[in-house]
This record gives sequence, structure tokens and C-alpha cells, in this order.
Amino acid sequence: MRVLGIETSCDETAAAIVERDADGCGRILSNVVLSQIDDHAPYGGVVPEIAARAHVEVLDRLIGQALHEAQMSLDDIDAVAATAGPGLIGGLIVGLMTGKAIAMAGRKPFYAINHLEGHALTPRLTDQIDFPYLLLLVSGGHTQMVLVKGLGDYERLGTTIDDALGEAFDKTAKLLGLAYPGGPEVEKAACLGDPARFLLPRPLKGEERLDFSFSGLKTAVRQLATSLQPLSQTDVNDICAAFQSAVADTLDDRVARSLALFRRRFPDVAAPALVVAGGVAANKIIRDGLQRLCAEHGFRFIAPPMALCTDNAAMIAWAGAERAKQNAADPLDIAPRSRWPL
Ligand code: KG4
Ligand code: ZN
Repeated sequence: MRVLGIETSCDETAAAIVERDADGCGRILSNVVLSQIDDHAPYGGVVPEIAARAHVEVLDRLIGQALHEAQMSLDDIDAVAATAGPGLIGGLIVGLMTGKAIAMAGRKPFYAINHLEGHALTPRLTDQIDFPYLLLLVSGGHTQMVLVKGLGDYERLGTTIDDALGEAFDKTAKLLGLAYPGGPEVEKAACLGDPARFLLPRPLKGEERLDFSFSGLKTAVRQLATSLQPLSQTDVNDICAAFQSAVADTLDDRVARSLALFRRRFPDVAAPALVVAGGVAANKIIRDGLQRLCAEHGFRFIAPPMALCTDNAAMIAWAGAERAKQNAADPLDIAPRSRWPL
């Protein structure tokens, strides 16, 4: 079966066609993503109203491009899947209404997809891995550790109690006068800095529960930066290095506990896996740290290709294709949800 996927929950407009064969294997026939970063950069973050308007302007064209690249027309599509939440409500409405209209006009089944479920199921598209596995999602909007037990069966082990990790990178960058999005800028500066010059807090490290917290770290960066004014380039590099090392250390602690919990819950899984998704997974120090931790704990470390780790519509189409196995199409009056925990 071939599924058209649509993603408009944040600042990427995306359309994709994914095929699932009789054995359950997936193949991406096209995957088109248009980032709005340039529209939001002057504001140092995503502006919801600008995002919604930008989705309206390009979504039709992107769907046309996805069909063209897959060398097919809407008649060749068996189902339509669109992100229904969580995310910015204006953008969600644009993608969901477009998906419903295409499904209705072509009398195809429609799937309203939870964006987080899209991230959670991606490794089954790229690596055909079996349930259960652990998912660490670290993006600009989400920081979650999820136990993926089966299709539609997800248990959130921990989440951020304040800022998302990507948001913490972006806010730290802004405080230090670096460009948006901040993650890559902080990483670049950190490479040149001395992580030992400043000691920043490791929020929630050592705590039994598996949640995350990053706003205290951001506040510590602000206080440090204020105390050093005017900041030299060396100061900025050293603060970024200290920030990144605090983040890596905190993740290490949270993830190690999650791996241990997985072992206790599923002692019979012979080759357990940790999957990472989200833009922050592009960070080399963080990625290397997770890989080392997995090796130490006997877990496979699975990082889908970056284009599928960050927001895209192939993951939404694939979630629709997986859901179609259960024959559970959604009614066309289903509403978007800005908040929608897994
Ligand atoms: O998954 P993503 O592309 O989009 C959404 O969150 O919707 O994630 C974007 C986030 C941004 O906060 C960005 O600063 C962060 O991922 N990011 C990074 C790196 N590259 C992107 N954070 C740390 N290091 C990086 N190299
Ligand atoms: Zn996402």
C-alpha cells in the first residue's frame, strides 16, 4: 500500500509517499521537506502565525512535488496520513484539513497521526526493528524517553518538566549572541572551548524518576554570561563547552537509568535497542555519548539518517501505513490537538 503523508506541526512543511509491502517492509518513494528557518530566524524562534501562513502558501506545491518525485498521481495513493498533533495549532489545521480534503475527494482512508508516534515508529521503517525498544526524542519541542511496546502501545518514561533540550540550546545561543537555530552554533563554539573552565549544574542527575529539566541550566548560563560582561569569544566558547558537557552528563544519567529499567522490564529481549530522534541527535558529543552508553549496557544504538530524525512527512506516512495494518482509519471530523501526549 502507498500512503501520502503530510507534516505541518512546527516550522517544516513536508509531504512524502511511503510504500509498505506485504511483508511489512517500508520504502520511501519521495520525501520533500521545506524548512521555514529563514522566516523565523530574525525572531530567534518559531512564530506560530508566520508558520501557519507559510504552510498554507507551500503545502499544495509540496504535495505535487512529492507525487511527481514518486512518479504517481493521487489516484495511485491508497491512504492519506496527516499530523493531527501535538504542535502549533495553526499549522496543524492546515495539514490536517488538506489531508482530509484529499482523502474525502478520493474516497481513501484517512489517518490522523500523533507526531510523536511518527518519530517513535521511524526505526521500523529504516531498520525494520521489532517491538519493544526505547526511544529518546530530543528536538526543539520535545524531550521524552518512551518505551515503544507495540503499535499504539507507548509508555512515556520521562519528559522535560520545563524546556525541551533543543529549546535550551536555542535559548543558550540567544543569550550568547549566537544565531538561530542555536544547536549547531553552540556545538561549533563548544568545539573550540574549554569544558573545564566553568562548572554548570546537572539538573535531576541522580534522581530516580526519569524526567528531564533544562531551565535551571539556562538560568545558570544567563548568570554566568552576565557576570562576565563584556563576553570575549573565548568566554562564549568556554560557556558553550560547559553547557554541552552538562547536557551530555545529564543525558548520560537519565539514559543509563532508562536502559536499566528496560532490562528489568524486558529481561528476555536478546538484542535491546535505543533509538534516538530529533534535531539534537545531530550533536556529535551527545550522539557519541549515547553510543558509548549503549555499548556499555549491551544495547544496539539506532540513529535513523538525519533527514528522518528531524521533522519529515515520511514518518507520518509510515505511521499511517502501520496503522492501516490494524484497519483503524479515523473519521473525517477528527480535530487537531495542540497537546497530545503519546
Ligand atoms: O527535530 P528538529 O529539527 O525540529 C523540531 O524541534 O521541530 O529539532 C530542532 C532542534 C533545534 O532546537 C536545534 O537547535 C536543535 O534541534 N539542534 C541541535 C543541533 N542541531 C539541531 N542541538 C544541538 N546540537 C546540534 N548539532
Ligand atoms: Zn518532531
